[in-house]
Amino acid sequence: MMLFRNAFFYTVGAGFLALSKIKNNLQGYSTPKPFNISEAERCIDYDLQVVDLWLSHLQQYTQDTNSLFGKNILELGPGSDLGIGLYLLAKGCAQYNACDVNELMKSTPDSFYEKLFARLARMEGLISNDWLRQQLQAMQQGSTSQLNYVVRHDFDIVAAFGEASMDMVVSQAAFEHFDDIDATIRQLSVVCKPEATLVIEVDLKAHSRWVHDKDPNSIYRYSNAVYNLLRVSGAPNRMRPYQYKEALERHGWTDVMITPIKKLDGGVDSYAGLDQAFLDRKNQMDYLSIMICARKR
Ligand SMILES: C[S@@+](CC[C@H](N)C(=O)[O-])C[C@H]1O[C@@H](n2cnc3c(N)ncnc32)[C@H](O)[C@@H]1O
Repeated sequence: MMLFRNAFFYTVGAGFLALSKIKNNLQGYSTPKPFNISEAERCIDYDLQVVDLWLSHLQQYTQDTNSLFGKNILELGPGSDLGIGLYLLAKGCAQYNACDVNELMKSTPDSFYEKLFARLARMEGLISNDWLRQQLQAMQQGSTSQLNYVVRHDFDIVAAFGEASMDMVVSQAAFEHFDDIDATIRQLSVVCKPEATLVIEVDLKAHSRWVHDKDPNSIYRYSNAVYNLLRVSGAPNRMRPYQYKEALERHGWTDVMITPIKKLDGGVDSYAGLDQAFLDRKNQMDYLSIMICARKR
């Protein structure tokens, strides 16, 4: 029975990977969120929840209740809109910077931002919408702004932001897409100031729609050779939690804390049918999504 189940999911998972390769070749990278930007209120809920979750983990990690004030923040892989950047500015950060390889924000309608401003106006303790509007307009017109959105196809973060300029790094469901985690973290170490903090959520699951619910560890069933044949650039890189920790420590980060956000059900054997590269328990295959906090030396 287990043999049949594994063979079934191996075949189906491979089919979905191949389909997403064809779709990506035809359409390019699209829909970074699990829903479309036209669903503005859902996107706004998502952006606010992402920031609130980062901040609650960071607060536990640093014991600092005002960890944003005056900070220069860098987000990697911001996706489809500047909701996160505007919310961070509204909460008191000094400057929001973001870097992406895909220019996903060009089709975000102004109506999205108007709905976001209406939502922020109903919340307490935030900076005025007038100032936020000015920052957004300045950014859209290419003038100096506290919102700094950079698209670089080479993902050269040091060239984009310079040395020792950032106090904090944030990211949501993006690190698993990066081609070279070691190179990205090495560059982060250059752009961050000493004592900078990092809080990132990494989605470790399969990303194909049907598969990520039915067989979340689907992508770990394949050998490197088969996976590399089926995957597109930007597909999950299959890095496991211990590898993020090692890369951070290698490049000068300390007190690395990894917290599972989503785990496989206790009753499921999280190693059944996986490729041998993932069978060692250090891979923590029951972790489907993690939050990583770290501090730069
Ligand atoms: C799933 S989206 C997440 C976007 C946003 N953080 C969110 O939670 O909605 C992944 C992000 O990583 C970026 N990305 C994809 N492939 C990448 C690559 N190879 N290098 C750098 N960024 C990449 C995408 O452009 C996108 O912004």
